[in-house]
Amino acid sequence: MSKPSRIAIDGPAASGKSTIGGLLAERLSYVYFDTGVMYRAVTWVALQRGIDLADEQGVTALAESIHIQVTQPTVADGRQYTVYADGEDITWQIRRPEVDHGVSPVSAYPGVRMALTAQQRRIGQAGRVVMVGRDIGTVVMPDAELKIYLDASVEERARRRYQEIRERGEPADYEHILRDMRRRDRIDSERDTAPLRPASDAVIIDTTELGVAEVLTEVERWVDQSDP
Ligand code: DC
Repeated sequence: MSKPSRIAIDGPAASGKSTIGGLLAERLSYVYFDTGVMYRAVTWVALQRGIDLADEQGVTALAESIHIQVTQPTVADGRQYTVYADGEDITWQIRRPEVDHGVSPVSAYPGVRMALTAQQRRIGQAGRVVMVGRDIGTVVMPDAELKIYLDASVEERARRRYQEIRERGEPADYEHILRDMRRRDRIDSERDTAPLRPASDAVIIDTTELGVAEVLTEVERWVDQSDP
């Protein structure tokens, strides 16, 4: 039995997608691709260029024109990958609170999604890939051989995000993070185009009570079991 070649991992913010996706890709020697990076890159560059995030046309034109590149890490500072927008390293900038805040409305624009989804599909077509996001199993790779949907309570996800920020040595306010996470959940789930939801054939794993090793073991069990 061969392993699934295209693995989709979806779920809300801080449900463990990136951690699990990165580790799984490493174990399988697959390409790891975190699609949230692309929406974040568009948001950050729009903020930099003074494009109003409410300007759908302006933001969409930007998404259609900027060149986003994700490579192996170029600096050993804890990053999973290096992200370039038009050649500039923006790996850490896209994790800033103003990007967290602005990215959900940006990713609700159909034209932005169309531009980025097309690039994601091209990466998926090559196979041997673990792709992480919100709509990978439903829209980007509906024919993925294995689809995982990771979930966790919003309080637990806010706690994880809080810890992550503190570990980077930055100030963080739990209540603020929790509020922002609820808002993002709502926008991501209620948007018309490619809303956050599990594909009908996805394996749903609630990670609220689970550690990274336990989730990884569970996902690997599905990798071994799935029959492409
Ligand atoms: O996974 P993340 O927090 O880095 O994603 C940032 C935002 O991008 C998230 O609020 C929703 C959006 N996103 C999306 O709409 N579709 C994807 N496939 C990935 C992310």
